[in-house]
Amino acid sequence: MPRLSVNIDHIATIRQARKGTEPDPVAAAVLAELAGAAGIIAHLREDRRHVQDRDLRLLREVVQTKLNLEMAATGEMQRIALQVRPDITTLVPEKREELTTEGGLETASRVPMLTQFIARIREAGIAVSLFIDPDDAQVAASKKSGADWVEIHTGAYANARPGKDRERELARIAEAAKLAASLGLRVGAGHGLNYINSGPIARIPEIEELNIGHSVISRAALVGMDRAVREMAAAISTD
Ligand code: PXP
Repeated sequence: MPRLSVNIDHIATIRQARKGTEPDPVAAAVLAELAGAAGIIAHLREDRRHVQDRDLRLLREVVQTKLNLEMAATGEMQRIALQVRPDITTLVPEKREELTTEGGLETASRVPMLTQFIARIREAGIAVSLFIDPDDAQVAASKKSGADWVEIHTGAYANARPGKDRERELARIAEAAKLAASLGLRVGAGHGLNYINSGPIARIPEIEELNIGHSVISRAALVGMDRAVREMAAAISTD
């Protein structure tokens, strides 16, 4: 059964609607952990549209499980990661105009740059994950670049119509997970997963962790964080 890590960006999005102090993503992280989340994820975007630098500093102090800093592979973010020292950084592509991370990171054509970038972070004792599409070339390039983990993008699966289209996307994810594990990479998955569609992904044996934000925070807004996290843990349980 994969572990559940909760992305708390949307709590910061609500706060930024008024540029005030509530709700605090740090409080959300504490509640998620108390409900059993195995990790907390925050994406510090270049435009600081939701998570702020202050959040990250406090999260580092407060998070007891595993803090995953999602970030673009830029010099600014590398400096911040080296200062804050999350347990792991996940490198994602970032476009200013997107509503959320749209595609996986292009690794296959950028191995030399990524190798240098990743080495600097790993030297500081921080693990590195690459958020990639379920594609053999991207998996192989992730290994070549020195990453510890890949996080397989489940967005196409989540958006596919139930039936044949979705089954095809599920098979692509399962194949990519298998290849990654066979190369010695650890494997997570995420994006667009919810209380209904996460079960089949959770049953892919190589996938150790699911990274889920939108659906958990949406449910938390209505029923509370504790219940939302516990219900997602139950949804991804393979027992
Ligand atoms: N993983 C990565 C790399 C992401 O960028 C996101 C979205 O911030 C997620 C997982 C979580 O996606 P969702 O919010 O759709 O659950």
